[in-house]
Amino acid sequence: MTVTIGTEDLALPEPDDLPGSEMRARVAELRKLRERVASGPSERATKSQHAKGKLTARERIEMLLDDGTFEEWDMFKEHRCVDFGMGESHIPGDGVVTGYGTINGRMVFVFSQDFTVFGGALSEAHAEKICKIMDHALKVGAPVIGLNDSGGARIQEGVAALGGYADVFQRNVMASGVIPQISMIMGPCAGGAVYSPAMTDFIFMVKDSSYMFVTGPEVVKTVTHEEVTAEELGGAVTHSSRSGVADLALENDVDALLMLRRFFNYLPLNNKEKPPVRQTNDPADRLDYSLDTLVPDSANKAYDMKELILKMVDDTDFFEIQPDHAKNIVIGFARMEGQTVGIVANQPMVLAGCLDIKSSIKAGRFVRFCDAFNIPIITLVDVPGFMPGTAQEYGGIIKHGAKLLYAYAECTVPKVTLITRKAYGGAYDVMASKHLRGDVNFAWPSAEIAVMGPKGAVEIIFREEKGDPVKVAAREAEYKAKFANPFVAGARGFIDDVIMPNETRKRICRSLAMLKNKDIKNPWRKHGNIPL
Ligand code: HXC
Repeated sequence: MTVTIGTEDLALPEPDDLPGSEMRARVAELRKLRERVASGPSERATKSQHAKGKLTARERIEMLLDDGTFEEWDMFKEHRCVDFGMGESHIPGDGVVTGYGTINGRMVFVFSQDFTVFGGALSEAHAEKICKIMDHALKVGAPVIGLNDSGGARIQEGVAALGGYADVFQRNVMASGVIPQISMIMGPCAGGAVYSPAMTDFIFMVKDSSYMFVTGPEVVKTVTHEEVTAEELGGAVTHSSRSGVADLALENDVDALLMLRRFFNYLPLNNKEKPPVRQTNDPADRLDYSLDTLVPDSANKAYDMKELILKMVDDTDFFEIQPDHAKNIVIGFARMEGQTVGIVANQPMVLAGCLDIKSSIKAGRFVRFCDAFNIPIITLVDVPGFMPGTAQEYGGIIKHGAKLLYAYAECTVPKVTLITRKAYGGAYDVMASKHLRGDVNFAWPSAEIAVMGPKGAVEIIFREEKGDPVKVAAREAEYKAKFANPFVAGARGFIDDVIMPNETRKRICRSLAMLKNKDIKNPWRKHGNIPL
């Protein structure tokens, strides 16, 4: 007989096949226990989970990992609480399934909270199970994926549960930048519980069944008198578009877990390894002549930077992160000659591609992830500058914009930059310029590298000629002729070469190949002080 636990068929021998009666009894007991754990607390609880369109904790692990690779730990672990009737209520596993397995053959540690057991609430024992796999993950250098579905701290346990959360938080921080940590939110995630996912590298959420907030709608109503639903306050769409807390909103559990498998393939297992290389038949020297007409003649006309990304990378395969938040900058993973790269690109289609608070934070954090995990960065620049206005200034654009600047300047992985059109002002400096240790800096012939656009420049430096449209036009033409090109920067060596758009892939692949063994180090320090 076999008992299915997660993905694994545990071939327990038939009791009758065993010699001693003591051993027979023990195996029968083990079989019963495993069956009980595997089937969940009750059929009703499983049905209720399914009725919400959610998979159970074990079904999720089964879908996420390669078949038959899950090694479960602490299946028999129970809470130690005796208050509020908990002494009579023990469910082995205590609301979280933990262990390790593989995704496409690569090691990963997983915890999956089981909402059918005490609402997936986190007890001291539950936290210990999570901490155990995190400790092992750090020891062996493998990522941790958390499948979150929990009512938060186990209310009956009080401070013991809070302490359990803090133990997880501490490990999140110790693991940050050492192993990738990914949170998938697949149910409630409220109160302080949101802070463990918040400290992981990526947060994905499932639409309509997951939410994250510090305080729920009831408390919000009492304190601020706002009426808001859980979905509006902290659902997947809210966090993937408005707040930027979540990196992706997925349709349902199956979609989410399959996407996570795909995403995992881009990442290295830890900060000492390079990401895996995926073989490709897409030639590194492939030319794309359609790119020669991507940039419109008029500097005020938009074009879609994603077209360049898709035409440049292997097999038009681009995994975009935060596609619905701060759309004026595009970030995500792709591959060049099979090697994972991080892409940061201004998007002229949205707010003319300018840098503002949200886009700076979005890209800054991504640059730091790539840098921590040995992923080269390709930066595609078409930026008219930082966004002006009181909303931005009062919101602290100075500090937030500095995050992206700091991230690029600190970063030591290979950096290849291409200016397609505008690179104006401080934003020119910020976007992986030569001055911030850009390794290879290219420009298309359409590049315009200047302190600002011709109109703005003439309004300032020839203010006295403002009333004379003929003179203004002549001054603008003069400024344009002088700076609306890549050659002034090229003459100073700030641009290594002006390349034809059609050869972008070829030139960037060559640059990355040249940079493969790049090795630079920042001076020793305890840590820098990024403008938070
Ligand atoms: C103990 C809990 C629980 C919790 C849910 N349950 N949350 N048990 N501690 N935190 C139990 C319920 O009693 C119920 O048990 C079962 O789980 C399913 O819950 P339901 O309420 O029936 O499910 P549903 O209607 O889907 O609502 C889910 C929910 C709700 C929205 C999560 O249960 C809820 O609001 N729970 C409390 C959330 C909360 O305030 N948590 C504390 C956050 S503060 P039975 O036996 O009836 O099946 C926090 C601090 C962390 O987490 C600080 C870290 C620094």
